[in-house]
Amino acid sequence: MAILCQSHSSENTASTTFTTRKDGYRERVNALLERQIRTACDPGETLGLAVEYAVLTGGKRLRPLLSYATAEVAQVSLQVADVIGAAVELIHAYSLVHDDLPAMDDDDLRRGRPTVHIKFDEATAILAGDSLNTMAFELLANPLDVDIDPAVRCKLIHRLAVAAGARGMAGGQGLDMAYSGQPVDQSTLEAMFNRKTGKLIAASIMMTADCGSSLSAAQYAALERYANLAGLCFQVHDDILDVTQSAEVLGKSPGSDIRNDRSAYPARFGLTKARERAVELLDDAQRCLADIGPQAEGLIWLTNYIGTRNH
Ligand code: IPE
Ligand code: IPE
Ligand code: MG
Ligand code: MG
Ligand code: MG
Repeated sequence: MAILCQSHSSENTASTTFTTRKDGYRERVNALLERQIRTACDPGETLGLAVEYAVLTGGKRLRPLLSYATAEVAQVSLQVADVIGAAVELIHAYSLVHDDLPAMDDDDLRRGRPTVHIKFDEATAILAGDSLNTMAFELLANPLDVDIDPAVRCKLIHRLAVAAGARGMAGGQGLDMAYSGQPVDQSTLEAMFNRKTGKLIAASIMMTADCGSSLSAAQYAALERYANLAGLCFQVHDDILDVTQSAEVLGKSPGSDIRNDRSAYPARFGLTKARERAVELLDDAQRCLADIGPQAEGLIWLTNYIGTRNH
């Protein structure tokens, strides 16, 4: 695929570890997020302030970090990973703003601060989510000074739309509401997790992989299996944190799943089984990376982080 690479991710990997590279990656994506918000929003308007608040005041930036770590294995330029990581993060931020609304999880704390509808108001939070949703596609369609072949851009837009939409995140969120208070079996619950959380996580990885040409077909397939396992593991662990962490550590109000009678993993299958499943998914995900080689160091680090983080 014809993508002009201004600087190559492998230049940065030769002599450093991902632990040291990740802070620079976070700075890169934060700079692009800030620039994109400035391009798309009027900071003099309440809506612009709400969008800034939703995106620029914290967050682990896991999805962009997965894009950078995938860029390292698929030999994609950092500039392309910036765009993909930022686009997925914008969709993720929108999903959080809407997830916290009174009509959904009715939460008042996010990233250690009042949620957007508490800080502003409900209408502003709905519109901030709407704006973030379209902003992601605005960025992919017109990534300013980053040169991505138009056909590749089109493919990226399609992949992200599918991952975010009715068969992906939004559909999964719908099922999460529908399953509340209902008995669900393990495969039904995991299929819902795969949509509400897994699809966006997998998109950050596979959209990046689609911009590279260095992976063999077998490695690409292993990366796809990895992406799905990592996404599922992330949500099982999120459910565990909801019942085991304090608000101070989590930056969210713990017990949200219980209060809403959600079909969360510990609530339906017990904390012990939830922990066992998270470890099993983590191990399976790590095994998929074995054939990708030493460049997978970043993905290996992030997988451990997904399964062991405390917030
Ligand atoms: C929280 O995602 C929402 C889920 C999909 C479980 P993160 O834990 O990645 O949230 P931030 O971006 O770090 O705040
Ligand atoms: C939401 O899952 C996943 C999204 C698509 C936003 P949760 O409702 O468990 O996420 P948190 O715990 O509020 O971050
Ligand atoms: Mg929710
Ligand atoms: Mg929630
Ligand atoms: Mg949760």
